[in-house]
Amino acid sequence: MAELVNVNGIIVERAKAYVSVFDHGFMFGEGVYETIRTYNRQPFLFDRHMCRLRASAKQINLPCPYTDENVLSRILLTMEAAVKSGEAYIRLLLTRGEGDITYDPRACPTPSLMIIVKPHLSVPPKVQENGVMVSLSTVMRNHPESVNPAIKSNNLLNNALAMQQALKNEAYEALMFNYKGDLVECAQSNFFIVQDGIVVTPPLRDGLLEGVTRNFIFEVGSEIGVQVHEASLRREDLNTATEAFLTSTTREIVPIVKVDQYIIGTGQPGPVTKALLLGLRKKAEALSQP
Ligand code: PDD
Repeated sequence: MAELVNVNGIIVERAKAYVSVFDHGFMFGEGVYETIRTYNRQPFLFDRHMCRLRASAKQINLPCPYTDENVLSRILLTMEAAVKSGEAYIRLLLTRGEGDITYDPRACPTPSLMIIVKPHLSVPPKVQENGVMVSLSTVMRNHPESVNPAIKSNNLLNNALAMQQALKNEAYEALMFNYKGDLVECAQSNFFIVQDGIVVTPPLRDGLLEGVTRNFIFEVGSEIGVQVHEASLRREDLNTATEAFLTSTTREIVPIVKVDQYIIGTGQPGPVTKALLLGLRKKAEALSQP
């Protein structure tokens, strides 16, 4: 079985993985999620993902009545059944649960926890070798006082609209601005540039998701002697960037060689990006010894 779903503790095949239309996750987009992958069949940085899931849930006043051990054991059971060998993709979804049509959270006494597990698909080596083009989006990243981008929310319409634009432009990702006109992150990943040999990524206060991979890059950078700093980025920075890349759990690091009309550096993936990708994989392997 290549894809199974754990729906509130019961493992079912995809065709039988349902939640009620009265689940407020479906009805109002009231839910949070995490995407996790395995290295050596171990959910990578599981504690950090659970920590962010709880922080996201807290920000929408959603209780998470499961211990980390309980969630991990559901993940492992589902993984053993769904993906018998190789690495797994794991998507955890925690929603408000079923209730009447009202915004009153008291209508939903029991949150729903769904876990989708399927084989992990790595970024094709050609994509890693050649880099990708991303497209600047006219869909703005949410204002932090609206649905805060710090919340990894199931309410993904904004990101979906940005990706629709990018796909129309045959771009790999949508690079988004915040309400102040700063570049903040992509629709599904964090954004970095290299300037004067230093890696720069926008600070959390600019309104973006605190990526688990983004945080890991700071650690990898310090171990391999690459400086990684936070600073706000403007469109003009694309002119002076010698390299650019995006990061996410499933994609690790993907070099960006073009942003619409802007050619980044030489138009080829650069040495800093390559060194960080190597460093990330090495560290991930080291932390995931069987
Ligand atoms: N996306 N920013 C956004 C808006 C994201 O959706 C993601 C992750 C990231 C990177 O976060 P992390 O490094 O923790 O994966 C940044 C996941 C992979 C997804 O939507 O499935």
